[in-house]
Amino acid sequence: MLARKKSFTSAIIGALVALSIIALVLSLVRVEDVTLPPTVKYGMVFDAGSSHTSLFVYQWDSDKENDTGVVSQTLSCDVQGQGISSYANNPPEAGNSLRECLDKALQVIPAEKQRDVPAYLGATAGMRLLREQNSSAAEQVLAEVAKTMQEYPVAFRGARILTGEEEGAYGWITINYLLDSFTKYSPKAHTWLRPEAANIFGALDLGGASTQITFMPEGSALSQNEGSELTLYGYRYRIYAHSYLCYGQDEMLKWLAKELIVESFPSTRVQHPCYPRGYEEPVSLSWLRASPCTDSSDPRLAPGDSAVTLEGSGNASACRAALRSLLNLSACGHSQDCALDGVPQPPLRGRFIAFSAFYYNFKFLNLTEGQPLAAVREAIEGFCSRSWQDLSSSYPTENPKRLPRYCANANYILTLLLDAYKFNESSWSNICFQMKAGGADVGWTLGYMLNLTNMVPAEAPARLKGHSSSLWAAAIAFIILTLILGLAALLLELWV
Ligand SMILES: *[C@@H]1O[C@H](CO)[C@@H](O)[C@H](O)[C@H]1NC(C)=O
Ligand SMILES: *[C@@H]1O[C@H](CO)[C@@H](O)[C@H](O)[C@H]1NC(C)=O
Ligand SMILES: *[C@@H]1O[C@H](CO)[C@@H](O)[C@H](O)[C@H]1NC(C)=O
Ligand SMILES: *[C@@H]1O[C@H](CO)[C@@H](O)[C@H](O)[C@H]1NC(C)=O
Ligand SMILES: *[C@@H]1O[C@H](CO)[C@@H](O)[C@H](O)[C@H]1NC(C)=O
Repeated sequence: MLARKKSFTSAIIGALVALSIIALVLSLVRVEDVTLPPTVKYGMVFDAGSSHTSLFVYQWDSDKENDTGVVSQTLSCDVQGQGISSYANNPPEAGNSLRECLDKALQVIPAEKQRDVPAYLGATAGMRLLREQNSSAAEQVLAEVAKTMQEYPVAFRGARILTGEEEGAYGWITINYLLDSFTKYSPKAHTWLRPEAANIFGALDLGGASTQITFMPEGSALSQNEGSELTLYGYRYRIYAHSYLCYGQDEMLKWLAKELIVESFPSTRVQHPCYPRGYEEPVSLSWLRASPCTDSSDPRLAPGDSAVTLEGSGNASACRAALRSLLNLSACGHSQDCALDGVPQPPLRGRFIAFSAFYYNFKFLNLTEGQPLAAVREAIEGFCSRSWQDLSSSYPTENPKRLPRYCANANYILTLLLDAYKFNESSWSNICFQMKAGGADVGWTLGYMLNLTNMVPAEAPARLKGHSSSLWAAAIAFIILTLILGLAALLLELWV
């Protein structure tokens, strides 16, 4: 009788143990489901600028895509050769130029994910200018780059020319997204907090053919028809964004060369205050006439292809004065709320990130460490006074096309920031010259992709994560406990 009861209990306990083991195995499988890394998603954007094209590949976890600051940069690839607008006479080559970077991108994106990768191409000021000159040529170039991208196994989502204001706004979104300044999750308050408006960064972008300034002014400083309103993560932002076509560094230098040549007409040797002493650059008048940014109607730029030689005189203050005279500052009168060419601009506010050519030029000159304005001026004066012979022997590895232009570009940066945008001795320290944030390059591409994939939602992100996994942890603890108790009971039973 006792033996039968004992074996009955053993059977029940045995069954309990067996069930627990099955449950444990099953739950482990399920737990793995829950804690499995969320699927990684990818996206790619070509930045087709006036002087060159770059491809950026981004990645993020699918379950976090609405949070701020979770997208990281997987790859950046520089396309060999000039910007796509330079292929106006041979559009298919514009498409071909992208292949090397597309191949590289496919090497970093797992094959099974490639078909879902949204792929964009955005073109900026170089193509805006080409469109002004010859819209059918611009369309052909875009059609060719689109055709090439469509040959690759990715989800092509369009190749188009961005407006200058979009370019400015997307750069601003990129910066504030990467620096987490839109919204922050507070684990204590269990909610998303709005950072102080003063902690939002402004964006300063300088390209070859245009420059953009974007920031969030004091609420009252923007009139109704100025600026644009964005709703991001549940908060509204009224931003001022302006793009100046033809005020990029390359077009500006072309424009300055033209003015200097016209002023000293009919001389064919022309002094250039922004180039180093001893440096000579031959320019052809047809090259100057070809740009839509320089007024080619001047009779002194007569047809024909006479050559003129620019001779550097390395004089920083004369260089700045010459550049300032091009900015049409007088159109603003005495108004402080005006940048250049009579374009209204609300008073500057907060800190700014100055990237692209603002950064590259200052990086070469070692001026990205937050030096005060006086030190920056002094360094630029010193650099401009160095002869070409000195420079070319001191920086033998530097691109010989770029090296003679640092003096000009640095002085243009000073003129643009101080005389046009109205930074001064004290607000100068609010400008941070930087090209990377959170491991990604700063530029408009990330903001563009975030916007087009709806990853910067208007609503505040939801926070429901972690619940399921803690539930599973509790379940497992329970099952293991049962198992141990069962085993203990079984052992006791066998001993008794
Ligand atoms: C992100 O937000 C969009 C709309 O705001 C929503 O449809 C989507 O489900 C969200 N995705 C995640 C992973 O939370
Ligand atoms: C515009 O570009 C097209 C295609 O490159 C070319 O055939 C045409 O001659 C150009 N038109 C002008 C006015 O330059
Ligand atoms: C200067 O700006 C004003 C206002 O926009 C414009 O009317 C004028 O033509 C500009 N002058 C030059 C030389 O560009
Ligand atoms: C920048 O700093 C480096 C290292 O100190 C130096 O070799 C280089 O000459 C500096 N560049 C300029 C333009 O002063
Ligand atoms: C982002 O996309 C939305 C549409 O989804 C659009 O209304 C908004 O203007 C875009 N933002 C910018 C900065 O262009």
